[in-house]
Amino acid sequence: MLKVENLSAAYGGIKAVKNVSLEVKEGEVVSVLGANGAGKTTLLKCICSAMKKSGGNVFFNGKKMPEKPHDVAKMGVVLVPEGRLIFTNLTVYENLMAGAYLCNDKKEVQDNLERVYNLFPILRERKNQFGGHLSGGEQQMLAIARALMARPKLIMMDEPSLGLAPKIVSHIFEIIEKVKSEGTPILLVEQNAYKALSISDRAYIMNVGEIVKEGVPEELLKDRSLIEAYLGS
Ligand SMILES: Nc1ncnc2c1ncn2[C@@H]1O[C@H](COP(=O)(O)OP(=O)(O)OP(=O)(O)O)[C@@H](O)[C@H]1O
Ligand SMILES: [Mg+2]
Repeated sequence: MLKVENLSAAYGGIKAVKNVSLEVKEGEVVSVLGANGAGKTTLLKCICSAMKKSGGNVFFNGKKMPEKPHDVAKMGVVLVPEGRLIFTNLTVYENLMAGAYLCNDKKEVQDNLERVYNLFPILRERKNQFGGHLSGGEQQMLAIARALMARPKLIMMDEPSLGLAPKIVSHIFEIIEKVKSEGTPILLVEQNAYKALSISDRAYIMNVGEIVKEGVPEELLKDRSLIEAYLGS
């Protein structure tokens, strides 16, 4: 459903992404793994047109991805950005409503809210609290929940586990699996390679702007030199 062909991107003269091709099929969780500065965030930003690419093409369900981020959102492609970026001075409820801004059907928004509260009971409990008063883990849940309020056809997540305590990380990954089981395909960027592989159907390894390896988790985990070189211990 998502097809990225030879995507390149640069900051001034510095190439951050070089000829990257990848694919996410219906119902899949696909991970892009790699160290700091590999180009993962840049890749996601280019896919959803938040940043201009310098080359290549992105297709979603056979159509070229629009150039305006707003039109990308209308197509049903949503990014949960690195560092969460929730509205700290809006309540949890208001943050969730902000995620539903493209939907005019009140009943549908209400049903969606119920579904999201069932997925994240803590957000129901905290619905009247300011986003800025939530813990890091709760903010990450809110960021994912807000994206789900848009009923995405594809959800992209940029390092959802970054900076969270191990127990919270496991919880976030359980939620990602639940989102998957509801049928929403996920393109997941992570430095937490083992956790990401444990819930992925396929993965791509990125190093200094390029995809250096692609495969199913079982295969990638067998390759010790690959793990040592790119995925850490
Ligand atoms: N705004 C920017 N201006 C100039 N260079 C940038 C900018 N943002 C990123 N870069 C550079 O582009 C390269 C890729 O960065 P990117 O943020 O995409 O990597 P990443 O894989 O997401 O890293 P991390 O794991 O740290 O989030 C890096 O060399 C980075 O220094
Ligand atoms: Mg990044």
